[in-house]
Amino acid sequence: MPGRPPPAPWWRDAVVYQVYPRSFADTDGDGIGDLRGITSRLDYLAELGIDAIWIGPVFASPQVDHGYDVADYRAIDPLFGTLADMDELIAAAHARGIKVTLDFVPNHTSNQHAWFRAAVAAGRGSPERARYHFHDGRGPNGDEPPSNWMAVFGGPSWTRVTEPDGTPGQWYYHLFASEQPDLDWTCPEVLAEFIDVLRFWLDRGVDGFRIDVSDGLDKDHAYPDTPDGSPVIHKDAASPVHDVYRAFRRLFDEYPGDRMAVIETGADDETVALFLRPDEMPLAFNFRFVQAQFSAAGLREAIDDSLAANAGVGAPTTWVTDNHDTPRSVSRYGAAARIEGAYVPGTFHGDPTKGVDVVAGTRRARAMALLHLALPGAAYLYNGQELGLPNIDDLPDEALVDPVWERSGHTVRGRDGCRIPMPWSGEAPPFGFAPDGPAKTWLPQPARWAALSVAAETDDPASMLSLYREALRLRHAIPALGRGTLTWHASPADVLDLELSRDGETVRVVVNTRAVPVTLPGGDLLLASEPLDVDGCLPPAATAWVRQA
Ligand code: BGC
Repeated sequence: MPGRPPPAPWWRDAVVYQVYPRSFADTDGDGIGDLRGITSRLDYLAELGIDAIWIGPVFASPQVDHGYDVADYRAIDPLFGTLADMDELIAAAHARGIKVTLDFVPNHTSNQHAWFRAAVAAGRGSPERARYHFHDGRGPNGDEPPSNWMAVFGGPSWTRVTEPDGTPGQWYYHLFASEQPDLDWTCPEVLAEFIDVLRFWLDRGVDGFRIDVSDGLDKDHAYPDTPDGSPVIHKDAASPVHDVYRAFRRLFDEYPGDRMAVIETGADDETVALFLRPDEMPLAFNFRFVQAQFSAAGLREAIDDSLAANAGVGAPTTWVTDNHDTPRSVSRYGAAARIEGAYVPGTFHGDPTKGVDVVAGTRRARAMALLHLALPGAAYLYNGQELGLPNIDDLPDEALVDPVWERSGHTVRGRDGCRIPMPWSGEAPPFGFAPDGPAKTWLPQPARWAALSVAAETDDPASMLSLYREALRLRHAIPALGRGTLTWHASPADVLDLELSRDGETVRVVVNTRAVPVTLPGGDLLLASEPLDVDGCLPPAATAWVRQA
């Protein structure tokens, strides 16, 4: 039809559910989730009302960083199943109208990747070593690392190899663990290989990717020492990293169906916008909600900044409160309820066991869910968020498996507490996550999670799961939700009052972060995270959606 704009691509306002594969559903009884487990739970996801899933890395891997150390990008790790299982999962998801996106890890490989083994074997100056960052050490015998750069997981970011002749050799760079050597993206073979890997998965029908450490690819080849040991990584407009993403985009555009990628980046808003220019990537994670406390001023600033930053390049934003790298928001908001700053917000540092009030945190997380799912853009949810799972911070030391724990010399407990296997049903672990049997789940589930299982919450209209189901149903039915134009209304201090409108329909979203109730605007109450009080007011720590005529 002439004049009618093409339909917006699906990813602009999709609700994407992050599946952490180890922790979603285990069908083979080894205590670790698998692909067949994901397939077996697709009906649950369809009923929840999500549009797409992002599956964490399931590729062949020694699992040093739980799959973020990939040894073969075209193979499924037997821990998770087979390529045939993946094909079946993609087909079964598509049959339910659910898009499938995979994790893509281009910054580093595993040290067990064929390329890295070949690089170590081939020796100094070889083309095999040119694919990674190999460098001679400093000092008379090259005994000292090439620079003072430190690894994200703790310790130095250079590791020395033994040369094929048995002598102490060159050093290689790793932003994360020493088992995760960084690739050198100035080597043309690297881009060619990864384009081929993307093609491999696009040809199998995947709808997109989540790109790990996307802005880490352009390390300064002078490797200069820095005052605090942080690496020098270029991301500015002149950096060739943008050509990498242009090449990825051209590839996606060769395929039908609006294939996409969402990039993981910790860069500032302006830098992120560079990666979102029309010829680069469609979406970037926006971690402002991960860092924000439950306070009206902080949330408003996060929303305004996020929308403004992307407006210049025409890209939608994404909204994220939880993922596999961050303490779960129920506990973050619960910590904030009693002790400000018990967590270092947005990181996995800090001591979240201090004073966490899970009841207050859950209430705040309910209120946040209705803000999160109303805002314009893509919404990412992390498995278990819809159940209101708290972070588990009392895991015994011997249960901890995040590489951060070892590499930090047992000073940072790491991210295990947000990665506990999902409770599906029943009164005792493994709560339907795995077949009952002797095998232990890879991280222990707390016995108190019986009340938070999918089965328990399904039957409870007041549960977090029921709130998410209803919110997602409304989001699909009412175009203003998730897709509307946002306008702010004047509001009392500590209250957010915003309007979303589209196609002649308007929904007001009121978030009450203060300690006393607030009067709601007139209209039809669509949903509230807590029952209204006897005067019809919105109680503290609650959000309401009100449809206006
Ligand atoms: C992933 C982490 C992973 C790291 C190294 C991240 O940003 O989300 O889970 O440990 O990249 O690949």
